[in-house]
Amino acid sequence: MGNFRFLTSGESHGKALTAIIEGLPAGFDIDENFINNELKRRQQGYGRGKRMEIEHDTVEILSGIRFGKTLGSPVTLMIKNKDWENWSEIMSVNAKDFTEEKSFTTPRPGHADFAGAVKYSHEDLRNVLERASARKTAIEVAVGAVAKQILAQFGINCHSEILQIGKTTNPDDFENEINSAREKGISLGGKFKVIYQNLPVGLGSYVHYDRMIDGKIAQMVMSIPAVRSVSIGDGENCASAYGNEFQDEIYTENDKIVRKTNHAGGIEGGMTNGEDLVVVASMKPIPTMKTALKTVDLKTGKETEAHFERSDTCAVEACAVIAENRIACVLLDEFLQKFGGDNKKEIENLF
Ligand SMILES: Cc1cc2nc3c(=O)[nH]c(=O)nc-3n(C[C@H](O)[C@H](O)[C@H](O)COP(=O)(O)O)c2cc1C
Repeated sequence: MGNFRFLTSGESHGKALTAIIEGLPAGFDIDENFINNELKRRQQGYGRGKRMEIEHDTVEILSGIRFGKTLGSPVTLMIKNKDWENWSEIMSVNAKDFTEEKSFTTPRPGHADFAGAVKYSHEDLRNVLERASARKTAIEVAVGAVAKQILAQFGINCHSEILQIGKTTNPDDFENEINSAREKGISLGGKFKVIYQNLPVGLGSYVHYDRMIDGKIAQMVMSIPAVRSVSIGDGENCASAYGNEFQDEIYTENDKIVRKTNHAGGIEGGMTNGEDLVVVASMKPIPTMKTALKTVDLKTGKETEAHFERSDTCAVEACAVIAENRIACVLLDEFLQKFGGDNKKEIENLF
């Protein structure tokens, strides 16, 4: 990322999640309520676990915004973890010995536990879990919700749809599918799509591999925990299509360039082409389940069952909200590269 950049920090049961955003021009309206509403959307969705009943995420804006407008200075966001109070000893910042009875050493298949413990030489897998957890996506959504609001001031808006939960593509069956998985003590994944409308032509570029916007979007969505595939438009089906079926032919209507199809999902040659941006992603089933998975205790070297910690049965709706907001960060960054200025008026003149 170039013009719009951010860093996040925070453990799942630590005191708080934080982010610093740098590169926001001055004069844009930012509404805290909008950010909180996005945080609420991330926490909802059928199939979530007990943690979401504890956390009612609200953002605190610590810098960079005054009287509802960006100042041009870095914006600091914070979300306190309400659950911290129950974990303050286990997550203590102060020096303590490794407390064996409160640690876990049985890596959960499908999680960062095993590779993370080897890579960072952690005995207690909690040291991996705490940051690898999808809890960190809350602060990413808050950052994205800032980006979304700026994009909206240029008429760019977005929504998402759930396409599949487990084996069903019928929305009427989604809840039943989740109920039945929960009863069996297993979990589900699914598929969703994110659509952005009213994007200008030419965000991204064909001139160099690292400037192509499809690659940037794919990175942002693929790196959401549990996302295993990302495609643009009808990308999932492109291998079996004939050339004349897949391309979106170009016509004129009232002296305007129009398309009658959008298989490309709004991107050609690494650039937005003015059609709706359509990003489709699949999430794998949640790896932690009551039905235990086989693993090896790294302390004893013996085969055993994986550690269970309270968990969602299905989080596809939340994942779609995360993807919407992560994509907003890429789009705003590209937008500012193309129409960049130090303040809203300058950018409006360039747009
Ligand atoms: C919104 C959301 C909620 C999640 N909730 C859980 C959960 O409750 N339990 C769990 O085991 N994994 C959950 N995951 C998935 C894990 O975080 C993810 O599978 C794990 O970190 C390993 O990353 P990978 O699947 O990308 O390899 C969730 C993911 C997302 C996006």
